[in-house]
This record gives sequence, C-alpha cells and structure tokens, in this order.
Amino acid sequence: MALALAYSLITLTLLLLVQSVPYSATAQTSTNQSLGSSLTAQNKDSYWASLSGDFAFGFQQIGKGGYLLAIWFNRIPEKTVVWSANGNNLAPRGSVVQLTTDGQLLLNDPTGKEIWRADCFGSGVAYGAMLDSGNFVLASQDSDYLWRSFDHPTDTILPTQIMTHLSQLVARYAERNYSNGRFQFTLQSDGNLVLETRDFPLNSINSAYWSSETVGTGFQVVFNQSGSLYVRANNGSILKTISPPARSPKYFYHRAILEYDGVFRHYVYPKSTTTADAGNWLMPSWSLLPSFIPSNICSFMERIGC
Ligand SMILES: *[C@@H]1O[C@H](CO)[C@@H](O)[C@H](O)[C@H]1NC(C)=O
Ligand SMILES: *[C@@H]1O[C@H](CO)[C@@H](O)[C@H](O)[C@H]1NC(C)=O
Ligand SMILES: *[C@@H]1O[C@H](CO)[C@@H](O)[C@H](O)[C@H]1NC(C)=O
Ligand SMILES: *[C@@H]1O[C@H](CO)[C@@H](O)[C@H](O)[C@H]1NC(C)=O
Repeated sequence: MALALAYSLITLTLLLLVQSVPYSATAQTSTNQSLGSSLTAQNKDSYWASLSGDFAFGFQQIGKGGYLLAIWFNRIPEKTVVWSANGNNLAPRGSVVQLTTDGQLLLNDPTGKEIWRADCFGSGVAYGAMLDSGNFVLASQDSDYLWRSFDHPTDTILPTQIMTHLSQLVARYAERNYSNGRFQFTLQSDGNLVLETRDFPLNSINSAYWSSETVGTGFQVVFNQSGSLYVRANNGSILKTISPPARSPKYFYHRAILEYDGVFRHYVYPKSTTTADAGNWLMPSWSLLPSFIPSNICSFMERIGC
C-alpha cells in the first residue's frame, strides 16, 4: 500500500517535471508590453505571459483552421482558453497582433487587412499588460485601464470579474469551434440574469430556459476573489447565489463558462498537487463543482423539441 503510494507519487512527480517545461524562446514573461510590440501567428507558440505565468495572451492554433487570438491558462497542459477575439473569423498563419505606436491593439492578416481591433475610444494608451487575474488591459501612463478584456467577455468569467447590465456570455459552437454558438447568458437591463437560446445563425434571441428572478433588483454578476459567483443588488446585498464559495483560489484555478451545450458550469483545477488544500486531487485536471445551471437542461430541451 505504502509502496504503491510512493510509486504513484514518483510517477506524478515525473509527470509534473515533464509538464513544467520552461517558456519557449518566443514567449516573454514581462507584463508590460510597450507600444510597437507585436506577436505573429506561427508554428511555435507566440504569447505574452502574465508575471506569475498563470495566464498568457497570444495565438493558439485551432486545428488546421487558423489561429485564435486568445487568453488562456498557461501553466496547465490543457492551455484552456478563457477569452478570444476572433472566434468567428480565425486568423491565417502570419497574422500579426500589434500594439501600435499610437496605442491601438490591432489584429491584421498577413496582407495587412484588419481582422479585429480592441475598441478603445480616445487614445492615451501607454502600454498593454497581461495581468495575473487573466485580464488583458490597455493602460495609460498613470495605469488607468482604458480597455480590459474583462469588459468584453466571450464565454468565460474568472474570479474578480464583474458583469454589468447588458454584458453577456455567448457559448461557442462546439468544443473546439469558437464561433458563436446557440446559447447566451445575459444580465438584462431590467436586472434579470437569463440563460437563453440564440436563433443560430442569426443573432435573434429565442427562449429563456433559466433566470435569476431578479427583475428590478439585479445590478451585477460578480465572481469574487473567494471563487463565489452571485447576482448582487446596487447596495451590495447578494440576491442570487449561483456558486457558493468552494476551493480556495489560492490553491485552485477557477473558471465559469457557458458551454456549447447551454449549461453554465464552474470548474476548478489544482495549482499544485503538493499543497494541503489540494488534498486528494492527485491527477491534475478541471473538476466540475456541483452548482451548474440549469440543473437539468434536458427537460427544457425536450420541451422545445431539441
Ligand atoms: C508597468 O508600467 C506601469 C506604469 O508605467 C508601472 O507602474 C508598473 O510597475 C509596470 N509593471 C512592470 C511589471 O514593469
Ligand atoms: C464552426 O462552426 C460553424 C457553424 O457550423 C462553421 O460555419 C465554421 O466553419 C466552424 N469553424 C471551424 C473553424 O470549423
Ligand atoms: C438591498 O437591495 C435589495 C434589493 O433592492 C433589498 O431587497 C434589500 O433590502 C437591500 N438591503 C439593504 C440593507 O438596504
Ligand atoms: C465572496 O462571496 C461569498 C458569499 O458568496 C462570501 O462569503 C465571501 O466572503 C466573499 N469573498 C470576498 C473576498 O469578498
């Protein structure tokens, strides 16, 4: 028994050694990207990492289809994507994302045609930074954030991220297809948080299959530092808990995602297998917390005949 345990620990240690390969030569670990910096979509990984190395901003190749400009968890082998710019329009090899000398963040194809840009009104951008929270920001000289990826979520939110009225998550089309899919999660202007179908491929809204029932009172959706997710009122009180505090973000990565099957799920991943809090989580992987919504999507899908 003890021998078996020792053996599995050795195997695990070896696994971890294999996984913690140092950053490739093209990766830069400095958080501040000065004006004029750029990354090119190519065979080798090309990204800017956050100071801790937990997150990276750059290109991920998606099958043979092209490149996704994205933010992902960079210290885990899955490189799980948490944000993307061009899911509907993958970038060909040789595309460049550039923080221009006049402070714009642009994604251009190899001929110079624009694929995507960060809408950042006015100028005054002095640098870009991949923060350790998973937020990529464009900041002024005084470090005011003029554009934040956290304000433009795709299908995922992270601890410390807040959604305000009219912000939404749109599910991707399939596991490895980042085009807009068939479901969305919206904090409506009336304060209600709703999960609803999208009439694919049009962006017209179809029917709601879950709601927080916070019409008139819902103010923000908060994923707080302790890894708890809730709808709160203007005065700060919690109106609806989506995910109670579980598994300290000190020891676990957290993400909550509206998945392509229409279910909103909260996952955790141990940052290390050696911390006490990680306990029995010997094999590192994403684990689902029990608080997903809706609790039974099949009953709704049967009702609408999916
Ligand atoms: C990034 O730039 C800001 C503003 O110049 C500065 O306060 C901060 O220390 C810089 N961060 C790093 C890691 O160099
Ligand atoms: C993703 O799915 C959409 C809808 O079926 C399709 O039009 C698109 O080509 C797919 N994208 C990729 C990269 O396969
Ligand atoms: C905060 O706002 C909510 C919703 O409007 C209300 O039900 C609650 O009584 C308020 N709490 C306090 C302490 O004012
Ligand atoms: C996060 O929210 C939970 C309630 O769901 C609360 O117990 C906890 O103290 C909050 N954490 C922080 C850092 O505010």
